[in-house]
Amino acid sequence: MSIEINHLSFSYRGSKTKVLDDITLSFPRGHFVGLAGPSGCGKTTLARCLNGLIPHFYPGEMVGDVIIDGWNTQEHAAHELAQKVGLVFQNPENQLVAPNVEREIAFGPENLGVPRQEIRRRVEDLIRLIRLEEIRDKAPFELSGGEQQRVAIAATLALQPEVLVLDEPTSNLDPLSAFEVLQLLHRLNRENQLTVILIEHRLELVAPLAQELVILDGGCVVAGGPTREVLMDDKVADVGVSIPKIVQLVKQLNHPRLQAVCPLSVDSTVKAILEELEK
Ligand SMILES: Nc1ncnc2c1ncn2[C@@H]1O[C@H](COP(=O)(O)OP(=O)(O)O)[C@@H](O)[C@H]1O
Ligand SMILES: [Mg+2]
Repeated sequence: MSIEINHLSFSYRGSKTKVLDDITLSFPRGHFVGLAGPSGCGKTTLARCLNGLIPHFYPGEMVGDVIIDGWNTQEHAAHELAQKVGLVFQNPENQLVAPNVEREIAFGPENLGVPRQEIRRRVEDLIRLIRLEEIRDKAPFELSGGEQQRVAIAATLALQPEVLVLDEPTSNLDPLSAFEVLQLLHRLNRENQLTVILIEHRLELVAPLAQELVILDGGCVVAGGPTREVLMDDKVADVGVSIPKIVQLVKQLNHPRLQAVCPLSVDSTVKAILEELEK
């Protein structure tokens, strides 16, 4: 299943400003894509377009198309689209509605009238997959921020979407919880072929995970493509997103072969430099 965005522009009702301005992008099946850009550039608005919250819940002027698995989002209801594309928000506590973790996971499918036995199966599968065994009976307020976010991810996956869009899911988490959530996304992408679109302005967090990056600025796509190419693109540094320090170092070393490898971690940079020295 793929997502195709064709010449998408959007302004919220009452404003003439195009928050998204002629965006054309595609997200192929099974990819892990990082979406970054400075605050206010339209990341959240784009996420809302990906699962039909725009145009169905946010009034405004939408031009162009978002096609999800052959469905035009303008022509399908939000609850139908939610079974194709799941959206996880920044603040997990705002998304949790049920008295405990099991009920939370069951909540979405219950609302869609999924048979009880099938709901039980999904709940058990997700508790195992997301490793929620220890907290399955707990109430949302008994959970840490990281646990809440993992539960929010499980509850979203209970509708069995093939694409998971996460809007800055770790920005309110401590570093260890953030790391655990990102590792979970990595695993779901690798082992369960889930397409992941991760909105995250801290590129040093997303770069090691994402095969591709899309950088937005002022509602436009500034750069998009394989992670390394995008990070080495000088246009991206000008936008005001934080280029990972290790990439800045590789750029400054100005060594063509090292730049071609563009290592994304300290370890891989050291390894690449040692290999160069041995040549
Ligand atoms: N519900 C809304 N109604 C009106 N304007 C909005 C709404 N949500 C966001 N905006 C505006 O759209 C622009 C882009 O916002 P947003 O998509 O949240 O950017 P980002 O997530 O990149 O910070 C901002 O100028 C913001 O004020
Ligand atoms: Mg946002």
